[in-house]
Amino acid sequence: MNNIWLGIETSCDDTACAVLRNNGDSIDILSNCLYSQIDEHKAWGGVVPELASRAHLEKIVPVLQQALKEANINIEDIGQIAYTQSPGLMGSLLVGINFARGLAKDLNIKSYGINHLKGHISSALLNSPLSTLNSPLLALIVSGGHTELVLTKENAIVGKTRDDAAGEAFDKSGKILGLGYPAGAAISKLAKSGDKNFHEFPRALNEANSFDFSFSGLKTAVLRYVQTKGEDFVKEHIADICASLQEAIADILSLKAVNAAKKYGVENLILCGGVSANYRLRELMAQRAEKSGLNFICPPPELCTDNGAMIAAAAIFTNFS
Ligand code: KG4
Ligand code: ZN
Repeated sequence: MNNIWLGIETSCDDTACAVLRNNGDSIDILSNCLYSQIDEHKAWGGVVPELASRAHLEKIVPVLQQALKEANINIEDIGQIAYTQSPGLMGSLLVGINFARGLAKDLNIKSYGINHLKGHISSALLNSPLSTLNSPLLALIVSGGHTELVLTKENAIVGKTRDDAAGEAFDKSGKILGLGYPAGAAISKLAKSGDKNFHEFPRALNEANSFDFSFSGLKTAVLRYVQTKGEDFVKEHIADICASLQEAIADILSLKAVNAAKKYGVENLILCGGVSANYRLRELMAQRAEKSGLNFICPPPELCTDNGAMIAAAAIFTNFS
């Protein structure tokens, strides 16, 4: 069988295509290309679904062409296609689904619909030995729409957010702080020069036996803080406020993830999803995991946010090849 995979991701606001080679005992990413729609949505303060699907339609062919060029292959060299089937914005998903299925039919090859969250988990495992894949794994998936603790073998969700996702906590708080959309990366950048102990923002549901999260109170706390202190104070201390906010989110996420791994007796702890690009969350997770004797696995920063490579990797790991 041809071992070249095309991965297509269009579930939200990134149009992404990647070419991977499955060597059997390892996987090579030959290209991983992406058109980010952020500039198109920025003015509206969030993703506008109708604009997103239109942009996917416009960009999917050029992004595919770039992915083929960078991988140095022709379209006929593709052996099979993996595409994001769910969850995501319906109009955006449909562009990728129909494009992938049409292309597969034209090339007379198979195509496979992949769960986006499985994609994020697979991005963390791309550089791990095959034995890790078959071991019990607990994954903390943190993105703009999801915050879940998943036992991957059982496909069991042992904890999830009761309201906002961790990415939403960054984005909504960032909006209140005047940092635009999406704000996760901007907060993380500012936080590097700030004092994480400047202000203690709340850690919700901080109970020993609950693995659920709640972040909606955090954005309210940020709003109250800004209203009380005033705009000038916020501007002057923006780095300290970002560092304190980031600490509150990273602290509760890492604490619960490590506690859940211990409770369920799982040795491998995965951190993935867009928010896993956050340096402080990676640092705290790594420190706490090490203290508890856990093996901590995290994708490289460039594979944390949505991409096509993670979708093709999920298909390969699901034994379609
Ligand atoms: O996984 P992803 O690319 O898209 C979804 O599936 O949602 O995640 C996007 C989310 C956004 O909320 C964004 O603000 C957040 O990931 N994010 C970050 C960082 N980079 C992206 N959050 C915190 N720190 C970062 N460095
Ligand atoms: Zn995602």
